[in-house]
Amino acid sequence: MSIAIIISDRNVERFHQNLQQALPDIEVQCWPNIKKDTEIEFAVMWTYPENIWQSLPNLKVIQSLGAGCDKFIQDDTLPKNVEIARIIDPDLADQMADYCLAVIMGHKCQLKTFWQAQSARKWQWQRHKAMSKVTILGIGEIGHKVAEKLRLNGFEVSGWSRTAKADKKYQTFSGRDDLEAAVNGAEFLINVLPDTAATKNLINEQLLGNMEKHGVFINVGRGNTVDEDSLLEALDNNVIEHAILDVFKQEPLPEQHPFWGHEKVTITPHISAVTANHVVLEQTLKNYLKFKKGEPIPSLINREFGY
Ligand code: NDP
Ligand code: OXD
Repeated sequence: MSIAIIISDRNVERFHQNLQQALPDIEVQCWPNIKKDTEIEFAVMWTYPENIWQSLPNLKVIQSLGAGCDKFIQDDTLPKNVEIARIIDPDLADQMADYCLAVIMGHKCQLKTFWQAQSARKWQWQRHKAMSKVTILGIGEIGHKVAEKLRLNGFEVSGWSRTAKADKKYQTFSGRDDLEAAVNGAEFLINVLPDTAATKNLINEQLLGNMEKHGVFINVGRGNTVDEDSLLEALDNNVIEHAILDVFKQEPLPEQHPFWGHEKVTITPHISAVTANHVVLEQTLKNYLKFKKGEPIPSLINREFGY
């Protein structure tokens, strides 16, 4: 039995050394130098080469490097018996809450206008915007922390989820039938939904039409949950005022994409929350040891629901 690290888009040398040091009795193999592929039952993965599964006939568990596991769940070639464990990191949720508070406050204080005015050496006096109503789509591990941070900073927060919640200190809505009501009158709409069959292209001009006209859409969940052409229409038709986007259907966002030059779009490159290396190491070790002992792994995703 051995562990594999299969991550094709970043340097994992240090992670490989640390994992091997923590597990001296087993071999940690690192892609592309995998020699004993039939021995691999547990693999730490993120971006991976096509057709990898044929060479891993005994794989039982994938430890994802991230909280979102959509790339694995939506891979039809991944054998159904392989379990997928995600990262659950309170610090990741804190980072996301900080990011959302920062971009909301930046918009309220009109910082972008002042930065643009400074580059034109212009003294441009403007008041802060009075905006306080926030709706959060997805109030799981991350979305709930975002909701709490904003609530404690004086925002009027609502949250929307798949299943009903009765234990939150903010108003909650659940299920597809309640989506429009959840978004109704929102001045900021924050999307922290996973990419699943049920959430694909869920956010479009029609849904955004339930927000206030001066509203801002913030996407930190996944790009596939947004109909990007429809979002552009919503911005061009003044259905909402601005979009702050951290995730996209295609990443990196192609150079010719209309979002780049759009005056009503602010872009960040999928950095709203970044998992720390030590957390990946700790969770990999914890989950691997549970797997080895035959104990349940707590952060497994549900392949039926897609998250
Ligand atoms: P969780 O699984 O803990 O929470 C997901 C939330 O979405 C839950 O509230 C869930 O509802 C809700 N949800 C899922 N499907 C539906 C649906 N069909 N209708 C309504 N609500 C739905 O995930 P996390 O909070 O840990 O992460 C959320 C996502 O954030 C990740 O999947 C990932 O895509 C993204 N992410 C982005 C990062 C970035 O840097 N931009 C970093 C990390 C994560 P319920 O509570 O009922 O289950
Ligand atoms: C994640 C991400 O899912 O980085 O962790 O998006």
